[in-house]
Amino acid sequence: MSQRPLNVGLIGGGGGAFIVQPHQKAIHFDGTRRVTCAALHPDPKAALKEAENWPYPLKGYPSYDELIQDQAKKPKGERVDYVVVVTPNHVHFDPAYKCVMAGIPVFCEKPLTLTLEESDKLVAAVKEKKVPFGVAHTYLGHWTSWFSRYIVRSGLLGDVRWVDSCYIQGWLAARTEDTGSMQAEWRVDPKRAGISCCGGDIGTHALMQLRFVTGLEVTELAAHLETFVKGRMLDDHFTVYVKLANGGRGLVRASQICIGHKNDLSIEVNGTKGSLIWRQEEPEKVVILLPGQPDRVYWRAAVAKNDGFLGDVPDWLLAEPTIPSGHPEAFHDAYARLHRSFEADVRAYNDGKPFACDGSKYANVTDGRIGIAFVTAAVESSKRGNVWVPMK
Ligand SMILES: NC(=O)c1ccc[n+]([C@@H]2O[C@H](COP(=O)([O-])OP(=O)(O)OC[C@H]3O[C@@H](n4cnc5c(N)ncnc54)[C@H](O)[C@@H]3O)[C@@H](O)[C@H]2O)c1
Repeated sequence: MSQRPLNVGLIGGGGGAFIVQPHQKAIHFDGTRRVTCAALHPDPKAALKEAENWPYPLKGYPSYDELIQDQAKKPKGERVDYVVVVTPNHVHFDPAYKCVMAGIPVFCEKPLTLTLEESDKLVAAVKEKKVPFGVAHTYLGHWTSWFSRYIVRSGLLGDVRWVDSCYIQGWLAARTEDTGSMQAEWRVDPKRAGISCCGGDIGTHALMQLRFVTGLEVTELAAHLETFVKGRMLDDHFTVYVKLANGGRGLVRASQICIGHKNDLSIEVNGTKGSLIWRQEEPEKVVILLPGQPDRVYWRAAVAKNDGFLGDVPDWLLAEPTIPSGHPEAFHDAYARLHRSFEADVRAYNDGKPFACDGSKYANVTDGRIGIAFVTAAVESSKRGNVWVPMK
C-alpha cells in the first residue's frame, strides 16, 4: 500500500519571495510530500490574499502563530507533518521554537537564528521534545557532496592538512539594497540579518561544506570582516583563517562584492596523500588528485563499485535515487535530496520509531548552532584586531 503524502506547511514565501520556490518544488519532487498550509506574509490580510492566489490549493493563515496553534490541535495524520521556515533571519527562531514546543518537526532556513542564545535555546528544545529538525544548508544535498564526504572519510587523501572552502558572489558589489530588491534590503540590516551579512548569509554555507565533507570541527579562528560598499553597517566580505580539530588548518571565505561571481561555492581538501576539488556551479563532478597519477574526474551516477581505485563505495550511496549520468542534477535536486532525507526521519517520528537526524544527510539543529557560533566568534575576532578566538 502506498504511503499517504506528508503534509508540509510554509512559514514565509509570499510577495515575490525567493527561496520558498526551490523549497516548494523540492517538497513536491517525489510525490510523497505536498504543501497543504501556509502563513505567507507578516501582514495578516496579505498572508490570506497570497494564500488565495497561490498556484495550488492550500489553507492560508493570517499569521504563523495561528498556523501553529491550529495545526497542533489536529490529530497526527491530519495535521501538518513538518513546517518549512523561509522567512528572513530575524523570523527564524520564534516560529521554529514554537513548532518544536508543539511537537511539529521543522526544516528551517539558515542561518539558524540571530544570536547564539537563541540557537542554544532551540537546541535544548529539540533535545527535550525529540523532534526532527533540519537546517537548509542546500549544498549538502548534492550527491557529489555525499560522495566527497565518503572519499575523505575513506582515507584515500590521508590526513587532512588544509581546506579551502569559499562562497563568492558579486550581487552586492553596489548598493543593490537601494534598487528595490527585497532580498538585498533585509540582508544588510542588522535587525533582520543579524550580526553579519556576508558571513551569516553565505559564510555559514562554506563552513558547513567544510564540516560536512571533512568531518572536522573548527576549534579556533581569526577573522577579517570587511565592508567595501559605503554606508553598510554589516560586512560584505568575510575571511576567516581556521584551526581544525585534527591539527589541520583552513580558510573559510565568503564575499558578495566580487563582480562576475554568481554562486561560486567550492571546496578543496588537501590531505597527506591527495586532494579533492568540488564546485557547486559544476555540481555533477568531483576531482581527485593523487601524486604521480592522472587527475581523476568522477561524475555523479557514473561511479562503479570496486573500480580498483576508490575502494568499497557503499551500496546505499550508489543506490541513492537519482537520474542517469549526463542528465544534470543541480540546485533543485539538492533541495529535493534534503527534503527526501528529512521525510524519512519525519515518517519514523510519526510512527514512534527512532530517527537519525544526525547531520549525515542534511544539517541538523546542532549544525545550525555551530554556524551561529562561528559567525559570533568571527565578529568578535575581527573587532578585537583579528585575534585568535576559540569556538564556543
Ligand atoms: N539555503 C539557501 O541556499 C538559501 C538561499 C537564499 C535564502 N536563504 C535563506 O532563506 C531565508 C529567506 O530568504 P529569501 O531570500 O527567500 O527572502 P525573501 O525576502 O525573498 O522572502 C522572505 C519571505 O518571508 C516573508 N515573511 C517575513 N516576515 C514574515 C512573518 N512574520 N510571517 C510570515 N512571513 C514572513 C516575506 O513576506 C517573504 O515572503 C533567509 O533566512 C535566507 O538566509 C537560504
